[in-house]
Formats: sequence, C-alpha cells, structure tokens
Amino acid sequence: MLPQPRATIAILDYGSQYTQLIARRVRESRVYCEIFPHDVTAADLAARGVVGVILSGGPASVYEKDAPSVDPKILDGRFPVLGICYGMHLMAHVLGGEVVLEGKREFGPAMLAIDDPSGLFEGLGNSERAWMSHGDTVRTPPPGFHGIARTERLPLAAMSDGARRFAVQFHPEVMHTPRGAEVLRNFLYRVCGCDGDWTPAAFVEEAVAELRRTLGTRHAICALSGGVDSAVAAALVSRAIGDRLTCVFIDHGLLRAGEAEQVVATFGTRLRLIHVDASDRFLARLENVADPERKRAIIGEEFIRVFEEQAKRHEPVVGARKDRSILVQGTIYPDVIESRSRESKTSARIKTHHNVGGLPEVMDLDVVEPLRRLFKDEVRRVGAELGIPEDILWRHPFPGPGLAVRVIGPVDRQSLDVLRRADAIFLEELRAADLYRSVAQAFAVLTPIRSVGVMGDYRTYGALVALRAVTTEDFMTADWARIPYDVLARVSARIVNEIPEVNRVVYDVSSKPPATIEWE
Ligand code: XMP
Repeated sequence: MLPQPRATIAILDYGSQYTQLIARRVRESRVYCEIFPHDVTAADLAARGVVGVILSGGPASVYEKDAPSVDPKILDGRFPVLGICYGMHLMAHVLGGEVVLEGKREFGPAMLAIDDPSGLFEGLGNSERAWMSHGDTVRTPPPGFHGIARTERLPLAAMSDGARRFAVQFHPEVMHTPRGAEVLRNFLYRVCGCDGDWTPAAFVEEAVAELRRTLGTRHAICALSGGVDSAVAAALVSRAIGDRLTCVFIDHGLLRAGEAEQVVATFGTRLRLIHVDASDRFLARLENVADPERKRAIIGEEFIRVFEEQAKRHEPVVGARKDRSILVQGTIYPDVIESRSRESKTSARIKTHHNVGGLPEVMDLDVVEPLRRLFKDEVRRVGAELGIPEDILWRHPFPGPGLAVRVIGPVDRQSLDVLRRADAIFLEELRAADLYRSVAQAFAVLTPIRSVGVMGDYRTYGALVALRAVTTEDFMTADWARIPYDVLARVSARIVNEIPEVNRVVYDVSSKPPATIEWE
C-alpha cells in the first residue's frame, strides 16, 4: 500500500524574489511545503495532499496581457488561501474585486492598523510594522470579503472572507516585517489546521522507508565529497540499506588542510568507504593550465573518470546483482528550484559549477536524490538527527574544483601547499574568535602577484595572499564580512610569520555583485 501523501502547503510561484523565502519560513514553522508553478490545477494540488495554498508576490500586473493567473477552482473556497502582494491582487481580480494600477511603487516599511485580528492576525498588537513592495493595490474587495487591516496610504492592506481565505498587501516572509512569521504561523496552524509535524525525525523515518521501497535489494554508490549534502545523503541511504551502499571519496589533491583525514576518520568507520588518492593524475592534467573554466572542465572530466574506474573495480560489491546500481546524489531543494527556473528562463552563464551532476548521463545510472526537497538548514538538522558531527554539518561550502580555483593561474603542489597553510590559519583564527559560523564562507586566495617587502634587514619579494569572507543567505548575492580588525591583524601576522613565501596579506572588501565569491 502506498503511504498517504504528507499534508502539504502549496506555494504558487508568481516570480517574486521572495518565493523561496516563503517556503523557508513555512518549513521553519515545521510545516511541509512545496513550490508549484502558478498554472498547477486544483485537482493536482488535491492529489498531492495540499491542505492550504499561498500565492506568492510577483512583478506582473493583473490587467497585463499574459499576466500569470490561477486555476479559479483553487480560490473557490475548497482550500484555505493566503495571497501575498500580487497574490492578493490576483484573488481580488479573479473573485470579482477591483485592482487599481498605481503607476508608482511603494517600497519600504509601513505601519499596519489591524481592524480584525481573527484568524491571520491573532496575538498581534493593534498596530504592527510591515514591509511593502508593490505597485498595484486592491481598491474593492471581492464579494464576501472585507478589509482587515489598513495603512496610512492603503485602506485595504489586508482582506479576508471571514473564514479561510486571506490576502495581504505586505510581505510577512521578510525580516523587515517583525511579526510576519507569526502571521504565517497563524495561517498554517489556525487556518489550515497544520500541526507542525515536519521534523527531522519524521523526515528520516519517511525517507528511509521510501528509500527501502525504491532501492529494493539493489546496490547504491555515492561520491562523498566531505561536504554537508553528500555526507547527509550517504548517511541516510546507509541507514536504509546498510552496506549495500558504497561511498567513493576522491581526493583530487585540491582539498583543504586536514580534510581528507577528517572525512576518513568520520565516515570510514560507519560507511563502506573507498578512499582514492588521485592527486597525481589531477595535478598532472592541471599543469600549466591558467584558465579557470578550463580548470573546471579538466577536474570535472577527471572526476568522472576516476569515479567510473572505482565503480567498475568494485563491481563485485556495487553491481553484485544483475540490476544496475543506483547513484546517490546530494541535490538539495534550492538546486532543484534553480535548475527549474534555468529551464524556463534564459540566463547568462556566469561560471560553470562543477558538481558530480555529470555522472548520471555519462554512466547511465539511475539516480536517487533523497535530499531534493530540503533546504540547507533542514539538511543540517537531518544530519544531526543521523549523528553526523557538528564540524561537518556546519562546514562552509567548498567548491567542487577545490583549491584549484583559489590559486590564481596555474596550480602546482607548491602553490597549493602555501595556500593550504594560509587558509588553515585564517579558518583557525575565525574559529578561535567564534566567528566561523557567523560568516557563510571564508577562505584564502593565492594570487600570482609578487610584491616587495622587508624582513629584518632583508628585502623580500614574496607572494600576495587575499582573504575573503562573506555573509549571505543564498550565495546569489553576498556582502563582505565585517571581521574585526584585531582578528584580521592576527591572521595577517601569523600568515607572514609562519609562511616564508608570503609577505603581504589583503582583505577583499567587494560585494557580490559585482564581484563573485570565488576569485576564479
Ligand atoms: P561564486 O563564486 O559564483 O560562488 O559567487 C557561489 C558559490 O558557489 C561556489 N562555487 C562552486 N561550487 N563548483 C562548485 O561546486 C564550482 O565550480 C564553483 N564555483 C563557485 C562558491 O564556493 C560559492 O559557495
């Protein structure tokens, strides 16, 4: 018997930059949700176990030709609904109210006067701060709806049918609406009747059962990188099928100091782990290669080759049965959403990201992606539930091509060694100052610039190391981290004292955009 679909909140995507944020806020309230394209039908949603619908904001105007719409059945009262911004305009438009095209945007904070707290605004004060970002507004609510909040500018800042359908002009999902999370929770718990059962333990139980069903008696193979996602995916699959999972850890010689040892120490005892030191072949192929995209391509190709060889070599284990074995990948929800939006829009390629994503096509393997519905913070919580150590779970993301894109220009063992030592000092000092977790990513870059210095009575001509530390929510945009001067001073002093090849250290104060996080 197939299990019942989990009670799900559907978020219909109208293209707002905040759609993902809405999903994260819902999940933070321990309620499972998924983002759907706006043309999904009421019947599809019902079949997926949807118990409530949120219409996101978006840049369009409801009267525009080709403005994205909604299956009217979704709004007819069969589901609890919350429309946000464009979602509110759409509800008004479809259900017979009136939207006015303002021609000018309102952007920023506003004071919300709450007239009717029942349902959505329960527990809030009479007056709350809310974040606005919109052009159009609703002038007349649809029949059966009434206003439940206003601002100085907007007589209809929120509306309700007095039962299960609500709409707000402001954005409850952003931090600038201080009590927005409570508004969302009221919708989820009071209006939709959710009970907050989306917990890491529940996920693990469901995922393990599902993996057992899909994998049956087959074998699986996984490329373990030492990063959070592949580690959690492997731990989950291993919980489901034990040592029918084989993990391959390829050391391409481009890892940080101590990383390979840590991966082996952590996973060697609990998983069937094959550790491959392939640094010679990676470095041989990278010799004299300066172009970053070329480096990425070489590393990607070589990775696939090594992985294939290992899979073949361990065929007696991996492919013991006639059925082909299955590749486990640590794809997470933002990757899924991003590749979906890449399919639907044309966007310029800024950098190709080498992931093990090339593996399934090349190897003709079936793939399971047990984390494809999880956000990063959920992956970490699931990892903790599975007993993975904190220092792996909270590790900063590390690019697939590793230190090869942090040595600017051609890569060789010596430059990697210098970079590794500088990087280790930087990370060590950040941890000592308790700053490691408050930055999203921090690392050193070895530049090809040489500059003049002085050491004792001697003139030096040494390498320039750059330090990069950023804060970001999603890695699409980022700001440079305001690391205290005394920490930077300590890092700099240690690098030039402990690494004779380096005589100058700079701190990167560029945001993304226009700079990217990595230097290559
Ligand atoms: P950028 O440099 O594009 O980086 O601002 C955004 C995030 O992606 C990581 N990154 C990569 N990850 N393969 C990867 O797996 C790559 O080639 C690659 N390039 C950048 C980067 O570390 C940051 O987290």
